[in-house]
Amino acid sequence: MEVPLSIVAICPRGLELIVSEELTYLLSHIRPKIKKGGVFFIATAEEVCMLNLWARTPTRLLILLTRTQTNSAGELYSCSHKIQWKNWFLPGRTIKVDVNGRGFPKDVSLRYASLIVKDAICDSFRNDYGIRPTVDTKNPDIRIWVNFDNSLVTISIDSTGQPLYKRGWRKDGFIAPLKENLAASLIRLTEWDKKAPIIDPMCGSGTFIIEAAGIAAKLPANFTLQKKRVFSYELFSKSSPFGNINTKKIYSSAEEVWKTCDEKSHTHPSLFGFDISEENIDKAKKNAFRALPEPLAEKISWNVKSLHALTRPNFDKGLILTNPPYGKRMGKISSMDELIATFSSILKKQFTGWSVWILTNERELVSKIKLRASEKIALRNGDIECFWCKFDIFRGSKFRKEKSYDNIEQS
Ligand SMILES: C[S@@+](CC[C@H](N)C(=O)[O-])C[C@H]1O[C@@H](n2cnc3c(N)ncnc32)[C@H](O)[C@@H]1O
Repeated sequence: MEVPLSIVAICPRGLELIVSEELTYLLSHIRPKIKKGGVFFIATAEEVCMLNLWARTPTRLLILLTRTQTNSAGELYSCSHKIQWKNWFLPGRTIKVDVNGRGFPKDVSLRYASLIVKDAICDSFRNDYGIRPTVDTKNPDIRIWVNFDNSLVTISIDSTGQPLYKRGWRKDGFIAPLKENLAASLIRLTEWDKKAPIIDPMCGSGTFIIEAAGIAAKLPANFTLQKKRVFSYELFSKSSPFGNINTKKIYSSAEEVWKTCDEKSHTHPSLFGFDISEENIDKAKKNAFRALPEPLAEKISWNVKSLHALTRPNFDKGLILTNPPYGKRMGKISSMDELIATFSSILKKQFTGWSVWILTNERELVSKIKLRASEKIALRNGDIECFWCKFDIFRGSKFRKEKSYDNIEQS
């Protein structure tokens, strides 16, 4: 019988519910519990393998090994040493211990906590095998996560490795890309029906459009036919709960969806990515061909186009999803004002019937766009506090906005 494992799906703050919904869609029997930055549930090792391959919204999937009160460095060492590490991996593997949370024991700093747990792991291997794993802080085989919540410490082993937003299709450097799992979560928040057209008029490397194509085609998020990524669980030992899993079965269903994609390509939604930069459009196009089956990638319209030249395609309804250049990261505030004024005017003139979602960290942008935001969702994009704001464009939008936008500013 398969051992049930305690799993936490780590995700950006504010998106826990979206992650929980996706996990329940993929595994209907789980009963997820939501906490800040994570979704907790019970699953088997085989199910964890499947989730790593398919889930679009989490950042990583951790397996909880212990959770206990610790009030000193000695207690932290002792609870780490008690874990049967040899049941998870062999001493030839490289490791990294990451520590986060708050409320560390008095004699323990963040860095010291990492050393204590690393020492406990190495000592336990030295006792059993006479050798110990080496530390690799850049590209370890095995990642251990230590979380403090006041004196409660949780130690977990990472089943994922490289975070799930590194889907593997992003090759060329790009200055400010959205993380893939964040883009996917934002799309899910729009309650898109997977049929309506989507435009990203400032698409950069194409993240929204590529994720939308994957969502509509129900593709496994962390799989491409050309290049298989390695998950950390594949580096666990034979004696671990992951040792005897038939991953072939899991991969064959992912391959099947990719290969049969052309048959359904006529049903896929119209997707448009525009950007003022020719270089960015070139990158977005290449990303799409790496991320998606060819018939899907070919269906996307990429064009070099300034926002000033944005026109409505021949659809009465649709979505515009975008994250304009951030003042801090991508340019000057004054040119942003001009850009937003232009955007607002085009939306009002041409996009009646459409919904517009904008990701921004600038509160003023929400007022400068001079439209009424019908939703404003707070979340974190890395270390930046952001809002995902929805504007419904209808006749007379301007009049309604001017009556209401003071309220939005306060919220
Ligand atoms: C924050 S980035 C978007 C990143 C994108 N979401 C991604 O994941 O790669 C903003 C983009 O807006 C583009 N941009 C700036 N001014 C523009 C304009 N006037 N018209 C169209 N695109 C513009 C930039 O070239 C940049 O690619």
